[in-house]
Amino acid sequence: MFPKLLLVSNQDLNTRGALKSLSADELGKLSSLAQISTALSRADGGFFEVANTLLDKLLETLGAERFAVLLHPPNESQSLFRSQGPDGVTADPFPFSTTVVNSVKESGEPLVTLDAMDDQRLSTSVSIQLTGARSVMCVPIKGTGLLYVDNRLSTGIFREAELSLLTILADLFSAALERVRNLERLEAAYAALRASQEETVTRLAAAADWRDTDTAQHINRVGEYCAHLAHWAGCSQEYVEEIRMASKMHDVGKLGVPDAILLKPGRFNEEEFKTMKRHTTMGGKILEGSSSPLLQMAHRIALSHHEHYDGSGYPEGLKGEEIPLEGRITSICDAFDAMCSKRVYKEAYPMDKVFGIIRAELGRQFDPRLGQLFIEHRDEVEQIREQFSKP
Ligand SMILES: [Fe+2]
Ligand SMILES: [Fe+2]
Repeated sequence: MFPKLLLVSNQDLNTRGALKSLSADELGKLSSLAQISTALSRADGGFFEVANTLLDKLLETLGAERFAVLLHPPNESQSLFRSQGPDGVTADPFPFSTTVVNSVKESGEPLVTLDAMDDQRLSTSVSIQLTGARSVMCVPIKGTGLLYVDNRLSTGIFREAELSLLTILADLFSAALERVRNLERLEAAYAALRASQEETVTRLAAAADWRDTDTAQHINRVGEYCAHLAHWAGCSQEYVEEIRMASKMHDVGKLGVPDAILLKPGRFNEEEFKTMKRHTTMGGKILEGSSSPLLQMAHRIALSHHEHYDGSGYPEGLKGEEIPLEGRITSICDAFDAMCSKRVYKEAYPMDKVFGIIRAELGRQFDPRLGQLFIEHRDEVEQIREQFSKP
């Protein structure tokens, strides 16, 4: 069996040839369409950015006087307008033809009129008389409302070609809106996921901390100081948010420390101190092996928040920058908050004494650069302490 031949007539060839000889006006419209399409695909700031982009681009390219994106109820009060006037462009609402708008709403079909005053379909329209519109175009925007354009000065400025252009633009606009809405939905879902993750982390960390600290406030304060110190140290916003949560789990290993040691009022003997120190490696075990970057950071913090910059800390005796950055940050913030809080084994120290100890420990217990930054931001640190200590 022979394959089917694709026959091309002379007429087809002529039509194809015609594509090459578009008029300057038609080429201009195609180029405008391409520009508006690109602008719409780039606008991602939300509905109003997309709608304003569309109106501004229409104003630049379509020789008409007034443009509007008219939204369906219940959002109609947020409709957007653009008018060319003697004093330039305004975004003030203008009276549009309700007859045209209702007709497009009911039929779902686009409408164009060469001369509204002389158009049989609109002959009984009071709104046309009132607005004085002569040339009018209106097309539906899927699921959103209508795109409305009119001109009061001249007739016949819109033809079927402009109506097709406007219909394509309404479709592009609706696709851009759908993209923006999907993005917003995704962002909302991500925020909800983050919030539930944060709540889970805080509750788990609080369970470990509850026995020897006042409330969950210690871990919330540590999270907050760490986020601020990371920010002052020039870390990225992503890192700042990560450490805010991850640092809350620094003492999660205390779940494995017996009450008799954890709540002991006096000094530890050597054996008790050894057990107490194990909360770092126990925390490491609880948090190890996760694929989540947040838990991986929490794992590093649990293991390293009692390491000292000069190598005299535990459990590994790491030194300087061998200690992960998040461990060095948490070390300062955790020690600071512990020093200014009352514990079973000690009273709260006065603020001057606490900052004095931090200064004295720069380069010994604490990273000198980070510790210095912490001291330089004393006012903000004290504000955080106050803000996160309220019952
Ligand atoms: Fe600890
Ligand atoms: Fe702590």
